[in-house]
Amino acid sequence: MFFPEYRPRRLRRTEALRSMVRETELSVRHLIYPLFVCPGKGVRQEVSSMPGVYRLSVDEAVREAREVFELGIPAVILFGIPEKKDEVGSEAYAKKGIIQRALEALKKAVPDLILITDVCLCEYTSHGHCGILKGKEVDNDATLEVLARTAVSHAKAGADMVAPSDMMDGRVARIREALDEAGFSHIPILSYAVKYCSAFYGPFREAADSAPKFGDRRSYQMDPANAREALREAALDIEEGADIIMVKPALPYLDIIRTLREEFNHPIAAYQVSGEYAMIKAAARLGWLDEERVMLESLLSIRRAGADIIITYFAKEVARRLGK
Ligand code: PBG
Repeated sequence: MFFPEYRPRRLRRTEALRSMVRETELSVRHLIYPLFVCPGKGVRQEVSSMPGVYRLSVDEAVREAREVFELGIPAVILFGIPEKKDEVGSEAYAKKGIIQRALEALKKAVPDLILITDVCLCEYTSHGHCGILKGKEVDNDATLEVLARTAVSHAKAGADMVAPSDMMDGRVARIREALDEAGFSHIPILSYAVKYCSAFYGPFREAADSAPKFGDRRSYQMDPANAREALREAALDIEEGADIIMVKPALPYLDIIRTLREEFNHPIAAYQVSGEYAMIKAAARLGWLDEERVMLESLLSIRRAGADIIITYFAKEVARRLGK
């Protein structure tokens, strides 16, 4: 049936009709809020390229986590800014490292908030690469041991889920094995399975002080030109034991989210990264975009593409707008 018999506008006439036939829903229960934890006390330092996002000392992170939980956001993902960095990123797995201390405090203060940790070395290494160097190259297999050790130390300190973001080959299997051996077979792995080598991470690197001191991440993160490779990466991570697979960034890679959704039955997460957030904030500040509408439309689109879960710096704003 075609026009004039069929008129699509009939079902768009009122909000009641529109909402009855709405296909996709955005709700706070799908969201994860990132937290940057730094040393000190009473520290609340705004990231200049990410208005509304702060580096927080552990005590302030606890306050923030309480607020996040009250808003109905089910989970946070933690990033650490350590006191000191070295060649091998040893603060990543230190018993009293920044993330380990934050986990203990957060678990105690907000026991029902899901605590996810980003497992990577770039915030902890003096050279800013995501692994151990051998000359100018990142040594894959040597890095796996440090990542496994880091994941186990997070689980011991109270992490409910670990999220490896380093893009080393074989890290999901190695982390799974190490967690199981240490008695953490119940801790899921959210794998950054499809992580592109993206310029959209710029503001994050300011927040986490994690920009590489030389070169770039092209030898481990994925080439933005590749879609079929995303299927191979996701299949490998699932094979190795990932419980949730993630695509990152989100909006420029909606096709990849959709492809993975069609191909796999695991839960899919998408990371709306720092640059995506910064662009919306900047345009809104200039009065060029309606921030709230663009925020909701972007997140809804990520859901429509097929993501179950979204990591977003907008989580608190969405919660305030949509309610629990
Ligand atoms: C750590 C990591 C990065 C992000 C999440 N985990 C930075 C990077 O890979 O350089 C980026 C998140 C964002 O931009 O919001 N490897």
